[in-house]
Amino acid sequence: MSLKEKGFATRAIHNERHEAEYGALTFPIYQTSTIVFDSAEQGGRRFALEEGGYIYSRLGNPSTTYLQEKLACLEGTEAALVLSSGMGAIGTVFMTALNEGDHVISDKVIYGCTHSLFEHHLPRFGIEVSFVDLTNPEEVKAALKENTKIIYCETPANPTLKIIDLEWVAKFAKEHNLMSVVDNTVATPYCTRPKEFGIDVVVHSATKYLNGHGDVIAGAICGDADFILKCNLEGQKDITGSVMSPFDAFLINRGLKTLEVRMERHCANAQAVAEFLETHPAVAKVYYPGLKSHKDHEIAKKQMNDKYSGLMAFELKGGYDAAKNLANSVKVFKLAVSLGDCESLIQHPASMTHSPYSKEDRIAAGIDDGLLRASIGLENVEDIIEDLKVNLDKLI
Ligand SMILES: Cc1ncc(COP(=O)(O)O)c(C=O)c1O
Repeated sequence: MSLKEKGFATRAIHNERHEAEYGALTFPIYQTSTIVFDSAEQGGRRFALEEGGYIYSRLGNPSTTYLQEKLACLEGTEAALVLSSGMGAIGTVFMTALNEGDHVISDKVIYGCTHSLFEHHLPRFGIEVSFVDLTNPEEVKAALKENTKIIYCETPANPTLKIIDLEWVAKFAKEHNLMSVVDNTVATPYCTRPKEFGIDVVVHSATKYLNGHGDVIAGAICGDADFILKCNLEGQKDITGSVMSPFDAFLINRGLKTLEVRMERHCANAQAVAEFLETHPAVAKVYYPGLKSHKDHEIAKKQMNDKYSGLMAFELKGGYDAAKNLANSVKVFKLAVSLGDCESLIQHPASMTHSPYSKEDRIAAGIDDGLLRASIGLENVEDIIEDLKVNLDKLI
């Protein structure tokens, strides 16, 4: 039985290609910028891609390769590439795949800096992006142009936990010869493997659950070997230069070993917190795909394997002032952006992660002034709920 056929936790812990120098259990950190060639001829052959092997760590390094093989095995893709941030991964995909004059269709609910890339920066290079509601097929069809090349979304989307039907997106992309790209940061491959629904390319902010310990900024691209090689040798090497350090690769590899157990706890804690919030009189609305009240709970159930990750958003009856009071008074939650860490985190998307949106676009995306986003951590759930309850009770 090959590693690919084994369970998720086994794949997250092992790598069959691990060569245990000195019998080391843990894959070493190859903290080197360059690689010594045996001969001038060998160096020439490597640059000409006639011979495998390393050259220089902007092109690849054993520590990052080790992590890439694991990520591909977890996402079920042929290959993966790791980068120095999630934005580095997204920028590298678009810079590699697109040319001046191309067009992109994106859902309107996406991470704030990705929105800024699409809204302000890709147009500077002659690439136009249409923001639509990907749950509305008519709107997507109307946005399609002759020069459309990519269809893009996050699911669950940051910060409203909007769910997009990946099977539909993949089918639409195939019918119209588009590349489908999905940001799988929130779900992680533990809850959703977009490739299984026919999605071409998966991007990650590995800063979040994949690493899981709040001590690294990192990204990843997973997809077919040809496209990943192109991202490596063109987008990453020559354009973005977004390279992961060997030490960060080591930390993420260590984080991955506990991804399954961490995700189980994140999912269970978040489900309990979302159910509690729904019953509290100070709360107006809770957005969590594991709740039956979520608009697309049934699609989430199908494509998230009945595991809904640890991110949620909610609105309070007292609006922005109540949201601010809660964020300023909680103690177990830390008032910080990012998500997927051991610590529970709370933040205000309108003024923080999604502040790059214009007010008009933000409201159209459902990111209201009173919305709070919470990343539910791995603390004891009673303590998380108590922290919310004590401070919500003050708002009644
Ligand atoms: C869904 C999503 N994608 C991409 C990013 C960007 O990742 P990074 O901060 O690692 O560049 C973030 C960051 O918060 C995110 O939440």
